[in-house]
Amino acid sequence: MAKILVTGATGQIGAELTLALREHYGADNVIAAGHRREPPGGLAQTGPYCSLDVRDAAALNAVVTAHGITVIYHLAALLSAVAEEQPLQAWDINMNGLLNVLECARQHGCQVFFPSSIAAFGPGTPPFNTPQDTVQRPSTIYGITKVTGELLCDYYYRRYGVDARGVRYPGLISNQVLPGGGTTDYAVDIFYAAVRQRHYDCFLRADTQLDMMYMPDAIAAAMQLMQADASRLMHRNGFNATAMSFTPSQLAAAIQQHLPDFTIAYAIDPLRQAIADSWPRHMDDSAARAEWGWQPRYDLSAMVGDMLRHITAKLRNE
Ligand code: SER
Repeated sequence: MAKILVTGATGQIGAELTLALREHYGADNVIAAGHRREPPGGLAQTGPYCSLDVRDAAALNAVVTAHGITVIYHLAALLSAVAEEQPLQAWDINMNGLLNVLECARQHGCQVFFPSSIAAFGPGTPPFNTPQDTVQRPSTIYGITKVTGELLCDYYYRRYGVDARGVRYPGLISNQVLPGGGTTDYAVDIFYAAVRQRHYDCFLRADTQLDMMYMPDAIAAAMQLMQADASRLMHRNGFNATAMSFTPSQLAAAIQQHLPDFTIAYAIDPLRQAIADSWPRHMDDSAARAEWGWQPRYDLSAMVGDMLRHITAKLRNE
């Protein structure tokens, strides 16, 4: 039976992935690790939690040894906008954390999941139908850590046989944990604003098209790739994976289908706009579909309906 460690378990992906893994593999087989001393309610009540700084290699090794870990989902990282405010810290957390995880995996024979991002591309990348294998010259420190991470994971596989796998996620939209410091956060914030005050001031331009994915699909992608038959994988890391691609004005129009009095205005944040402008508009994810059967369940209208239902219920109980 797999014994799983999830780093960054209190974060946007980690919180939901931990619960899904516990459901699938049994609560006691999934150790959640986060930088907080005390975990948020859902994580604490459903299984083991430990406080861990992934930059501390000895502490990471101790957790892996103590629990006999065989699989590590390594999600601890700073997102794009906050990384741009603190580039040295972003490098330290995103790179040294991953290196520690890969070294630990090499020593203990663990499988590793590493989430890359659309941020691994840059202004020189073809923006539409962005190929799986193409130019990767990102202009953000976050993107640089993601490309380096993809390369390191491939290196550890080729050199040491570490079974490291990963996808390039687009913007992720969740009805549970809020993202922190990302460029695509508008696509989550807009739902809270729509339900609360029927108005949202968007920090990206109306026509900023980006790939997106609803969190249930993101969780399914991670679990599916990790279980995929290795003999079918031509790639291992940095699989393009997307579910929809839209602009803020298209998202606003989809919300107006449910809330006709919803309005949107634009108050551009130059930092996040520049980051978004350096990313592709729509990736080609045919390699993920062919090699491990990637198939998203939610498109724009299914995601919007589900988000509004959940956020409305959540805010009613506040
Ligand atoms: N959603 C992330 C961000 O905006 C992209 O990986 O930083």
